[in-house]
Amino acid sequence: MKLKTLRTAKIRKGTRVVLRADFNVAVEGGHIRDDWRMTRTMPSIVRLLRLGARLVILSHLGRPDGKRVASASLAPVARHLSEILRTPVAFSRDCIGPAALRITAALAPGQVALLENVRFHKEEEKNGAAFAKALAAHGDLFVNDAFSASHRSHASIVGIPRYLPSVAGLLLEEEVEHLSLLLVKPKRPFVVLIGGAKIDTKIGVMKALLTRCDRMLVGGALALPFLAAAGMRVGKTKLSRTELIVAKRLVGNRKLHLPVDVVVATGPNARPHVRAVNEIGARETVYDIGPETIRAFAAEIRAAKTIVWNGPLGLFEKKSFSHGTLALGRYVAIRSGGRAYGVVGGGETIDALHRTKMAEHVDWISTGGGAMLEFLEKKTLPGLKPLIKK
Ligand code: 3PG
Repeated sequence: MKLKTLRTAKIRKGTRVVLRADFNVAVEGGHIRDDWRMTRTMPSIVRLLRLGARLVILSHLGRPDGKRVASASLAPVARHLSEILRTPVAFSRDCIGPAALRITAALAPGQVALLENVRFHKEEEKNGAAFAKALAAHGDLFVNDAFSASHRSHASIVGIPRYLPSVAGLLLEEEVEHLSLLLVKPKRPFVVLIGGAKIDTKIGVMKALLTRCDRMLVGGALALPFLAAAGMRVGKTKLSRTELIVAKRLVGNRKLHLPVDVVVATGPNARPHVRAVNEIGARETVYDIGPETIRAFAAEIRAAKTIVWNGPLGLFEKKSFSHGTLALGRYVAIRSGGRAYGVVGGGETIDALHRTKMAEHVDWISTGGGAMLEFLEKKTLPGLKPLIKK
């Protein structure tokens, strides 16, 4: 996929640029707890400011459902951005309308404004044409650097390109380049490590990747419907009929590797026990994969030439249930950056990877959770279509 890109876009001193970033970061008590996602957009922002653009940044934060919600305000993000850039960042309390336009029109070349959460307007998620046009009125060029939101057909992603020439930001372009390496002739063996909670959000990508990978290692709560479909009792966890039906369709696939043992407890604070998967007690909950499974999955990772990891393998936030996730995260990191091409994505997965203190070995850490999975499944995203070079 060849994209029109910021690298070659014609930007002169004073060009008005609307940049869609994904500043959907964790805000606590008015402070940014983790600005990793913001820092990943800095190459595009810095480049635009150096070229003398008058820069207007749009983002969403959380899911305020079309209402003004104080906790979802981007005001603390504007303050933080100003600290990172060491330059004032103008903030507009609305992303459209006369007051917002006055703020963006007053920007001098090399100056930047951040506009309030686009999701405070219900037209954002509905992709309202008038709303998209009002957002586009802030600029002459649109740069989409929000890969992680590009699976959403929202106004600030797919609507603005109807009104402005549009290019991919540097981060978005890099995301597509790196993730495309998993789609086009990946080096084999190609191993997918997948965990997390919800089978309905992962089944599409699992099916697609099963046609392309050599092994799929499944852990976390995601493994439970598959274990149940294979005839195991999975303890206290309630599974819906739909989950079982979906899992039954895949469970016979020889590429699919399920846990052979697990760590269980009667509650998250109770004493953990290791059990074979056919010995899980009725009052027990599965919280992690067991040592035999770690060994078996690690052997596959150690032999891989391409690895993609999404989703924790257990309740890793709790020390007693973190072994599976952290051990396999370390194996992924060790194998990456030379012997295998390693890609990791998803908010919790990245959090877990950082806890291994080995994240720097991984070839590509995607900012996208849902977006990465959808890109790997469908090989494109709604937000990428307007950016494709014809
Ligand atoms: C994310 O955090 O994955 C992106 O910012 C998209 O957020 P959303 O799932 O609320 O659309």
